[in-house]
Amino acid sequence: MAHILTAFFFITIFQTLTVLSTAHSYGDAHTCRSYCGNLTVDYPFAIQSGCGHAGYRDLLFCINGVLMLHISSGSYRVLDIDYAYESLTLDDPHMSTCSAIVFGKRGNGFVVEHWREQYLSPTVDNVFMLLGCTAESPLFQGFPGKHLPCRNVSGMGCEEYYGCPGWNIVGTKKVGLVYGSGPPDCCAVSFEAIKAINLTKLGCQGYSSAYSLAPLRVDGPHGWSYGIRVKYSVEGGDSFCKACEATRGACGYDINDFSSLCMCGSWNSTSNCDSVHSSASHRRTWSLMDALTGFMGCIAVWKLSATLGL
Ligand SMILES: *[C@@H]1O[C@H](CO)[C@@H](O)[C@H](O)[C@H]1NC(C)=O
Ligand SMILES: *[C@@H]1O[C@H](CO)[C@@H](O)[C@H](O)[C@H]1NC(C)=O
Ligand SMILES: *[C@@H]1O[C@H](CO)[C@@H](O)[C@H](O)[C@H]1NC(C)=O
Ligand SMILES: *[C@@H]1O[C@H](CO)[C@@H](O)[C@H](O)[C@H]1NC(C)=O
Repeated sequence: MAHILTAFFFITIFQTLTVLSTAHSYGDAHTCRSYCGNLTVDYPFAIQSGCGHAGYRDLLFCINGVLMLHISSGSYRVLDIDYAYESLTLDDPHMSTCSAIVFGKRGNGFVVEHWREQYLSPTVDNVFMLLGCTAESPLFQGFPGKHLPCRNVSGMGCEEYYGCPGWNIVGTKKVGLVYGSGPPDCCAVSFEAIKAINLTKLGCQGYSSAYSLAPLRVDGPHGWSYGIRVKYSVEGGDSFCKACEATRGACGYDINDFSSLCMCGSWNSTSNCDSVHSSASHRRTWSLMDALTGFMGCIAVWKLSATLGL
């Protein structure tokens, strides 16, 4: 009996010390970094609400180990997140590639919510090739002398794309820079030029998107990478997050007003975890109360064992 009580006494002491020590540290700030399949999801992105930057809220979803990006035009599979170059590589399964031309307006295109445009935009060297657009398409309006807005982007364009085997099935109607007999089957543009790839609005049957990873210039459409390269950038840079993480905080935002927050475990700071905050002292008072309760428990057990004459 004496041994049990002694053991109990030491366990209580140990727990008290643990409570005391955590009361004086910030505790382990919960991390916002997560993983989906083999991709790391880190600032400014997040899968949990309240984590990351507010500009990227409700954007990424991890579904059965597959990271999906959701915007107005639809859902895309995220193939890669390049944190060094601040870019994402997306795939749309209904996008045309070199081996398959997909018509029937099944592709998503690329349209971002207006408020999110400043945070997410296809890169300048990503080419969008609009396929099977009608003559009435806004693409072909307002260009005097029937000049086309179609361009090569980063050395990629329709002339070469027409050489893809996918066209053997659908056939092509190649047109030069000026058309007379009708619009071309393919018109290549940069995202900058039209700001939204909305197949319905543009009156197009399908689209393809390709990018070439600089500085290697791959020859021919077989060598292009098919997918959408998207640039992301946080306004004001990531200095807020850097400062937050340097004090062991996790970068997040207020889910009500979307302002940036540094999550410090038991409290949230509007700067970083080293800053003085009223709720921090609040929390510490509570921890000390816990410690005191533990000590009282110890004394009670001590007195009990003495009373029982052990
Ligand atoms: C992640 O997994 C996919 C297949 O699921 C693979 O194609 C890709 O190369 C992998 N990426 C990395 C960085 O390992
Ligand atoms: C801190 O902010 C996050 C995100 O808004 C929220 O989920 C969490 O409950 C907040 N924590 C505290 C202690 O207020
Ligand atoms: C695309 O354009 C159509 C017609 O203008 C419009 O109804 C639709 O909402 C647009 N889609 C997106 C994702 O903006
Ligand atoms: C695009 O590049 C191809 C091949 O380099 C060239 O033949 C074609 O004239 C260019 N098209 C435009 C619209 O500049």
